[in-house]
Amino acid sequence: MLVNKYYYLDKDYEPENIITTTGTYSYANNSLNEETYNAYQELYDAAKSDGYTILIVSSYRNYEYQEELWNERKALYGTRKADEYAARAGHSEHQTGYALDVADFYDTNDKFGDTKSYLWMKDNAHKYGFILRYPKDKEDITGYSYEPWHYRYVGKETANKIFKENITFDEYYAYYLNKEVN
Ligand code: DAL
Ligand code: ZN
Repeated sequence: MLVNKYYYLDKDYEPENIITTTGTYSYANNSLNEETYNAYQELYDAAKSDGYTILIVSSYRNYEYQEELWNERKALYGTRKADEYAARAGHSEHQTGYALDVADFYDTNDKFGDTKSYLWMKDNAHKYGFILRYPKDKEDITGYSYEPWHYRYVGKETANKIFKENITFDEYYAYYLNKEVN
């Protein structure tokens, strides 16, 4: 499922199999797709055994909540900047239940991109089916600023391919999935 500035979800779209996370893996009030959560637990355990504690900060968000977040950004930074940082309602991967934002438990003062946990994620997330969804220098393709904390679950096979080819999910979709174009 591709969600970006062009592909969007209905206001009423609510994914199935959304489950609430526990405190071991996340901050309070998080929920996400069950398969994604299972994969995240594997990732978490692997990171932990390498010495990193990486927690889910934000995951499933419904349409209304995303609308609030975008409006907050707009109030703070104006429309153009808001569109670089946050998705408009219906356009957020967070509404799919397959996306999550993370933070280093012991290094919350630093931006996630400056932590060692980020370097671990960069090298290992794909092994568990996750991709960095908004990489640096791909802003023109994704439409969003670099977000070192935002990961999307796509399954191991797809994540490996995206990692190896160093492409975005938008490109993966265009090259390999969108067969409707003649
Ligand atoms: N920050 C990402 C783009 C979102 O709002 O879904
Ligand atoms: Zn996010």
